[in-house]
Amino acid sequence: MTNINTSSQNTKMQDIIIFDTTLRDGEQSPGATMTLEEKLQVAELLDDMGVNIIEAGFPIASEGDFEAVSKIAERSKNAVIAGLARAISGDIDRAGEAVRKAGRGRIHTFVSTSPIHLKYQMNKSEDEVLEIITKTVTQARNLIDDVEWSAMDATRTSLEYLTKAVDRAIKAGATTINLPDTVGYATPDEYCNMFKVIRENVTDSDKVVFSTHCHNDLGLAVANSLAGLHGGARQIECTINGLGERAGNAALEEIVMAVKTRNDIYNIQTTVDAKQLMRASKLVSAVSAFPVQYNKAIVGKNAFAHESGIHQDGMLKDASTYEIMTPESVGVRETSLVMGKHSGRHAFKDKLAELGYELGDNAFLDAFKRFKDLADRKKNVYDEDIEALVDQTGSSESEAISVEALTVIAGTGGIQKASITLNVEGEHISKEASGDGPVDSLFNAIKEIVGDTQHLVLYQVHAVTAGTDAQAEVSVRLEEDGKIATGRAADTDTLVASARAYISAFNKLNVKRNRQAENTIAAE
Ligand code: KIV
Ligand code: ZN
Repeated sequence: MTNINTSSQNTKMQDIIIFDTTLRDGEQSPGATMTLEEKLQVAELLDDMGVNIIEAGFPIASEGDFEAVSKIAERSKNAVIAGLARAISGDIDRAGEAVRKAGRGRIHTFVSTSPIHLKYQMNKSEDEVLEIITKTVTQARNLIDDVEWSAMDATRTSLEYLTKAVDRAIKAGATTINLPDTVGYATPDEYCNMFKVIRENVTDSDKVVFSTHCHNDLGLAVANSLAGLHGGARQIECTINGLGERAGNAALEEIVMAVKTRNDIYNIQTTVDAKQLMRASKLVSAVSAFPVQYNKAIVGKNAFAHESGIHQDGMLKDASTYEIMTPESVGVRETSLVMGKHSGRHAFKDKLAELGYELGDNAFLDAFKRFKDLADRKKNVYDEDIEALVDQTGSSESEAISVEALTVIAGTGGIQKASITLNVEGEHISKEASGDGPVDSLFNAIKEIVGDTQHLVLYQVHAVTAGTDAQAEVSVRLEEDGKIATGRAADTDTLVASARAYISAFNKLNVKRNRQAENTIAAE
């Protein structure tokens, strides 16, 4: 393959544009719902690490989505903030309103173009869809200068019709043309060819940026995105950890490291600071409660581990024998022992800064208290312990309900039971329950106090570090009437962490319930 020729594109820099859609397509994956606070945290990190465009959400989808996109837009620094809109007038107005406060905002509107979608989903003719493209892209351009248009299911659309559709979008003023592999069906050669053909056949193709958007159903999302670059695309849409619908989207960290490591092939650069990739991966994994597989490229636990004798021997002689990039280049640090119980606020603040955290005053005091508490109980406190305690959701002071005390009886003989005392808005309530094992008993005791209209949809535990005194990081996801909330907590006692994670998720559900009630009252 020849190196990419960037001269026919209108992107002045020879840079690839990294468009992150973790907060939109990523958040759409079942169960990955994030709170406003978590979305702001992720957006801030993406912006700081040099991601060029952040798709912050789908503003028409809910009040919560609108609020998240507006707040992210308001707080944005360098990144362009995009809001998604279907090809519907109300969606486009809402997206325009949500990104209004961004230094640079974008409306991203899409419509399906494949015969399958036109027939079964839209019940529209090809000509009707062409009219819709002209109308909706024009409307978006009247609101904002930066408009992206996507041909949903582009890879199952005939190139002839796709050319007509893209032509319409460019004529109506789209500045970026995205050709998604919505169902993860394309192969790299096909995907590359699609961009070549479309760019050759539409008028003014050199005046717009072409973009890839690949799903991973056949495990080809990253390969297809990179093939898109060979076809002349300059924007890649991707997500941290490849989070996304079904098998996910192209993974941002893999794209970034592919173009950096194989610059001899791609000959383009990215503004993304690769040293922050690990941090971003951990944050997104924590807030979505989607674990990263051990052998995941770039950010998996084993991505830089060398087990076999031959490999270890080579590594000791020269790391380049088996390592094509260094762990440091993606932000993997040597596990380091931090401070003990005598460490003060100053040292803790320095450590947080080194780990990439910038906390407000209240969040800092809360994290410091948890650190002291942990250091009292755990001899060696590692960087990973600090990350787990900062990343856990909620704090006892700010939550309506918190865990005061608990006792669990478990083992091989007799019944398994738990008793718990919760602080419910200042009132101390204790209950006891039995169950099938200690966790079940504990959650039953909690439900005796808070009720059981919510369903447990995920219970996940992982050890933060090695050793039997390791903290257990627990994620609990609850669902009630279609509303989903995830709570996280870390503690050296797995059952304490479990109870706190459950209560944190329950508190978040409560906030959602109250918000919905307020909206209903306001609408009446
Ligand atoms: O996969 C897809 O086609 C999308 C569009 C909305 C861009 O996510
Ligand atoms: Zn998608």
